[in-house]
Amino acid sequence: MRSFVWFALVAATLSNAAPSKLSALKVKEEIAHPRGWVKSHPAPADAIIELRIALPQSNFEELERHLYEVSDPFHTRYGQHLSKAEVEALVAPHPESIHVVNEWLASHGLYEHELTRSPAKDWVRVSVPVGLAEKMMDAEYHVWVNDKDGDTIIRTTKYSVPEDVHDHIELIQPTTLFSNLRGMDTTFRFTDADANVQQVSPNVPPISVPSASGGKVDASCNQTITVSCIRELYNAVGFTPSGKDGNQIGITGYLEQFANIADLQLFFADQVPAALNSTFKFISVKGGLNNQSIEAAGAEANLDTQFAFGLTHPTPATFFSTAGRPPFIPSVGSPTNTNEPYTDWLDFVLSQRTIPQTISTSYADSEQTVPVSFARRACNGFAQLGARGVSLTFSSGDGGVGDGDPDPATQECFSNDGRNITRFDPLFPPSCPFVTSVGGTIHIPETAVDFSGGGFSNVFPRPSYQDVAVKGFLNKLPKGTYAGLFNPDGRAIPDVAAQADLFRIFLSGRAVSIGGTSAAAPTFAAIISLLNDARLSKKQKPLGFLNPLIYALAREHPKAFNDITVGNNPGCGTPGFNATKGWDAITGVGTPNFGVLKELVTSGF
Ligand SMILES: *[C@@H]1O[C@H](CO)[C@@H](O)[C@H](O)[C@H]1NC(C)=O
Ligand SMILES: *[C@@H]1O[C@H](CO)[C@@H](O)[C@H](O)[C@H]1NC(C)=O
Ligand SMILES: *[C@@H]1O[C@H](CO)[C@@H](O)[C@H](O)[C@H]1NC(C)=O
Ligand SMILES: *[C@@H]1O[C@H](CO)[C@@H](O)[C@H](O)[C@H]1NC(C)=O
Ligand SMILES: *[C@@H]1O[C@H](CO)[C@@H](O)[C@H](O)[C@H]1NC(C)=O
Repeated sequence: MRSFVWFALVAATLSNAAPSKLSALKVKEEIAHPRGWVKSHPAPADAIIELRIALPQSNFEELERHLYEVSDPFHTRYGQHLSKAEVEALVAPHPESIHVVNEWLASHGLYEHELTRSPAKDWVRVSVPVGLAEKMMDAEYHVWVNDKDGDTIIRTTKYSVPEDVHDHIELIQPTTLFSNLRGMDTTFRFTDADANVQQVSPNVPPISVPSASGGKVDASCNQTITVSCIRELYNAVGFTPSGKDGNQIGITGYLEQFANIADLQLFFADQVPAALNSTFKFISVKGGLNNQSIEAAGAEANLDTQFAFGLTHPTPATFFSTAGRPPFIPSVGSPTNTNEPYTDWLDFVLSQRTIPQTISTSYADSEQTVPVSFARRACNGFAQLGARGVSLTFSSGDGGVGDGDPDPATQECFSNDGRNITRFDPLFPPSCPFVTSVGGTIHIPETAVDFSGGGFSNVFPRPSYQDVAVKGFLNKLPKGTYAGLFNPDGRAIPDVAAQADLFRIFLSGRAVSIGGTSAAAPTFAAIISLLNDARLSKKQKPLGFLNPLIYALAREHPKAFNDITVGNNPGCGTPGFNATKGWDAITGVGTPNFGVLKELVTSGF
């Protein structure tokens, strides 16, 4: 031992650049006791976990600058998206970071052949026994049990890395990430299943009501939303995408939510007969399964795929199934997944040369359960997709201003930071400024649906593309409204909205009615995909990161979006925010008018 110390001292004296392997461990991240989780027994030392180490992305500000230039409709570079190699070059870590982290890993007997790196080398993954992880990071891993649903995960509330390594590592997980994956699927809910469905029948009186987009909508759409209702409401009747111009649409699935092909055929027979016998491409990410047993069909996955793919047929469609589902059972020998599905999916999709131009996700989590370091990195990953020309939609949540839990009685509106103050709890990823967050409406004429998630991020500052719209909203709030409950300088949610309740889908062979902003996100994504089709058919570039365009269009072309001005989104024991003229924290700038948007995006705004 003594000679080793001596060697380290000499090495440190000889070279200032090379860090001493023995520099003292210094705390990298520490969190208060995570609310909703109970510490059980120490994790078995020989259980294998996969550590994910994020190296600092040396040039992210530059990537962000490119992203905003190519996404700003008034910029000369609009649409000139970056290539995979260009994006990777901008997020690549400094070579010294790679070197220093390698040395640290090597000092624990972990060498290159055991490491897996992302294409840009900004993430390193390595599987290690818990005992070694504890030694490397001076951590104490325990099995933690969720007090609502009994899920178990293996985590530590504190971890350290050697002082010299600090600046070369942004974060390591799984450590302090105590999100509850199951919480994400609260962004869908059943509504009175069969009762509504019976109302769709040939006997529905053939009356039409005006849509805000200027056309007519079948009166039955007030009780039951079908593909043709969406087309009527959002002024997309009669537009058929080419299916052959390179345009694609994707849906992400997590939590072993399976998109069932037999149910999709029933849905097509019911609502899109021309699409019968067509299906989607299934892509498994990190071992994500594809159980086509009719009993295994997932409500969320079926809703997302049926509406997104039904609305965009014959556009080639992809369903990504990413593994990662509680309970996390620490097992000896085989690495168990780490329950951080966004980064697994991002790793995969960013490594692909061709990516669907529009991708929708209906899973989210309380922002405060996601460590800030992790939220930033995942959000940066979404920015990389935007820079490559991909539009990302996320459902804004189903708990109003609360934590996404549709049941107000069990909403957690207390801060998780040790202070336990009352605070609205927006969702992540919708709170990431590089994604498009989709809130919900109901009925005709459209009003805001009360569960529509909305509010202000406590992590991400307000991006400039929202400044005018959001300040307009804040200025109209009665003075002192909800003071201290929300962060008025935060990234505001949602950006847009779409119908979010009473959707008629097929599940395990049955027609059911389902709702949630889970329905709104794929619906809005489908409209974007149709716009992309119109552009690609004219050899124009896809829309990519949407938000700068959305706010510019809403400002300059009042007909591009149907402004929603009625409704509010209660949560945390308050009535929430009101829908108002202009942007609001429940429906954003409103629902899309495809016909108007198509003219604007294909003829140069
Ligand atoms: C749709 O239903 C809502 C709520 O019941 C009602 O207020 C509205 O008038 C209905 N719209 C039409 C066109 O009947
Ligand atoms: C779908 O396949 C069935 C059985 O092969 C066939 O009878 C039917 O005509 C097909 N429908 C369409 C729309 O292609
Ligand atoms: C598929 O799901 C069914 C119904 O839930 C289940 O019985 C079956 O074991 C599953 N198959 C596989 C291979 O997991
Ligand atoms: C936080 O405060 C609320 C309201 O005062 C209380 O009900 C709750 O038990 C507190 N939680 C913790 C973890 O202290
Ligand atoms: C919402 O509107 C009601 C009725 O006009 C008003 O009393 C309330 O203060 C408004 N709430 C907010 C948060 O703006």
